[in-house]
Parts: sequence; C-alpha cells; structure tokens
Amino acid sequence: MKIIIICGSPGTGKTTLANLLAKKGFKIIHLSEFVIKEHLYSDYDYERDSYIIDPKRLVKRILLIAHKESRPIVVEGIGADLLPEKYVSLCIILTCEPGELERRLKEKKYPPEKIWENLEAERLNIILGEALDKYGKKTLVIDTTNRSPEEVLEIILNKIFRNHEDDKDG
Ligand SMILES: Nc1ncnc2c1ncn2[C@@H]1O[C@H](COP(=O)(O)OP(=O)(O)OP(=O)(O)O)[C@@H](O)[C@H]1O
Ligand SMILES: [Mg+2]
Repeated sequence: MKIIIICGSPGTGKTTLANLLAKKGFKIIHLSEFVIKEHLYSDYDYERDSYIIDPKRLVKRILLIAHKESRPIVVEGIGADLLPEKYVSLCIILTCEPGELERRLKEKKYPPEKIWENLEAERLNIILGEALDKYGKKTLVIDTTNRSPEEVLEIILNKIFRNHEDDKDG
C-alpha cells in the first residue's frame, strides 16, 4: 500500500501542498471535506467545533479507494495520522514557527482562542512527536516558515522519487 499522509497543525500548509501535488498527478483526499461527505464521524465536538472521526470507518473507506485507484494517494488534514503505519509509505509533517503561524491563522480568520490553542500545540510539537513515534523512519519533517509552497513541493517530490528508486533497488 502506497499512501502518503500530510500532517501538521492548522496553517502549516497541508491543503496548499496537497493542491500542488494534485497538479502533479496525485489523488488527493482532503480529510476535512471527505469525513463530512462520507459521514465518517461518530460525533460532533461542540467545544472544538469539529467532527470526531470514526477511525475504523475512515481507514476502511480510504483502503477501498486505494485499492481501486491507480494514482498514488495523498491524505491530508487533521486525522491523517489515524492511518496505521503499515499502510503508509511516507508521513510528511509540516511545521511552522509560531510568529509566522500566527500570521497565517489570522489571515485564515481563525478566532483568537483557536489561534492561541494551535500555537501552543505547535510550540509543544504535539503532532510532530506523535507522528515520529508512530511512523518512525517514514517521517519527513519540513519547516515551512521560510519556504514557499513550491520549495516545499520540491522537497517532497525529491523524497518520493528517492523512495521509489530505493524500492526498485530492493
Ligand atoms: N511553504 C509553505 N507551504 C505551504 N503553505 C504556505 C507556505 N508558505 C506560506 N503558506 C501559506 O500558509 C497558508 C497555509 O494554509 P493551508 O490552508 O494550506 O493550511 P492547512 O495546514 O491546510 O490548515 P488547516 O489545518 O486549517 O486546514 C496558505 O495561505 C499558504 O499560502
Ligand atoms: Mg487544510
């Protein structure tokens, strides 16, 4: 199974990057839309203003798509790390320095309390730490603070290409 996942705090650039990868021929699953459209949630969290993903159904649905799809699949968004390690070929973690992240979240019109919560999570490397534990050597961490989306895309494509070559070499 060759599923690539893109994780990272809100505003680190997951959707932006996935849209660039779509232009390169990858099949993209944007989790925030996908979960709602396919009813892959178990509940709604009113405090956090977000759906609670049902991991079993999410994984099942993505695997079904992966079996039918000839293009490589990229799953992006909060919750992408619900995919078990054995199905994931590469876990991309995007990070961003708090100052720049704050600027991006303000631009995205996040409410102040959400900005604060997300900056705190980014400072504590919560997403990064969990992904490293789960995906180990398959993890690629990219700091997006001083890079353009195109530069980040370049790093990702190089990595995917190199992995592919390594696979062929055995
Ligand atoms: N190197 C970069 N890579 C990705 N995005 C960048 C980069 N530099 C600046 N940006 C900007 O940062 C913003 C990132 O927003 P985006 O919606 O892609 O983040 P996200 O991680 O999908 O957030 P959310 O979790 O809220 O969906 C965009 O406005 C994008 O143009
Ligand atoms: Mg997004």
